[in-house]
Amino acid sequence: MKNLKTKISTIEAQCLSELKKARSLESLESVRVSYLGRNGALTDLMSTLKTLSLDDKRTFGPALNQLKQRLTLAYESRKSELEKKSNTSDALFDVTAYKPHQMQGSLHLYTQIIEQLSSIFISMGYTIADGPEMETEYYNFTTLNIPEDHPARDSHDTFWLSQPDRLLRTHTSSVQAHGMEKTPPPLALFAPGRCYRNEATDATHDFMFTQGEGVFIDKNVSMAQLLATAQTFLQQFFGTEKLKIRVRPGYFPFVEPGVEIDGSCPFCDKGCSVCKYTTWIELLGAGLIHPNVLRVNGIDPDQYNGFAFGFGIERLAMIKYGITDIRLFHSANIPFLKQFA
Ligand code: PHE
Repeated sequence: MKNLKTKISTIEAQCLSELKKARSLESLESVRVSYLGRNGALTDLMSTLKTLSLDDKRTFGPALNQLKQRLTLAYESRKSELEKKSNTSDALFDVTAYKPHQMQGSLHLYTQIIEQLSSIFISMGYTIADGPEMETEYYNFTTLNIPEDHPARDSHDTFWLSQPDRLLRTHTSSVQAHGMEKTPPPLALFAPGRCYRNEATDATHDFMFTQGEGVFIDKNVSMAQLLATAQTFLQQFFGTEKLKIRVRPGYFPFVEPGVEIDGSCPFCDKGCSVCKYTTWIELLGAGLIHPNVLRVNGIDPDQYNGFAFGFGIERLAMIKYGITDIRLFHSANIPFLKQFA
């Protein structure tokens, strides 16, 4: 029985010294488990009790229980010491520690592109505007001169929500009316943001994408001003003053005349895979704001007029960086995102 006595004092000495040495709550917990846990040394010892004679049981039973109490108390007091320490800022914090496989965070490509675009428009005197992604029919269609039965509504493949009169906006043109309601003319707004269309996805179409919308309203606004604005912004975005634009007629119910603006390929003059060997790339939808849109927003079209333009933000980024699949943008694909870190 001397044997058991020695074991008790050895376990006590070892456990107390390990509790003292534990520098973190994690290592303290593993000391607790190895002595007081279900398969711990003390529990082990207690299970030998049943093999002892009645006399020995009378001696060692209480001795082991007292040991358990002492160790538990010692554990609790060390725990509260460590907890206090870990609440102070410099406790256990080793700034030189090397952590393998650490990944560095960075701004998402979306954020970077939107910041680039926003700073270009801010430099031209525009204000950054915002609008809700969950819209009403009024802001997404009606205020934009798209009548109830107009096929343009169908062409937008809208996600209708279960609440009455709620949809996910199909374009950032919905921000136009919010802007006109808030700010009397003259106004110059740039609104970047997410849009949704209920359509099949492929490398160049996604059900969720981002658009940028420009709105400019003042007296005597001309098509020339629209074109100069578009060219300046595209030159800055692609980083080349050589970029030219060309204009084709385009139809959008909220502008008259409506145009599609192409940019000359920023990468070649003879044709390449980016411009599909045409030297031109389709970039913006635009036009002079339809008088009906101004009128419905309380702006007198005989006094003021303006222009608006819209574009796909992913599309511009894909051209600029040679990205071949739009779905990569929200794929959370780390190797892809790392290229823009
Ligand atoms: N909202 C149009 C679209 O989604 C783009 C556009 C914006 C066209 C402003 C003209 C003026 O295609």
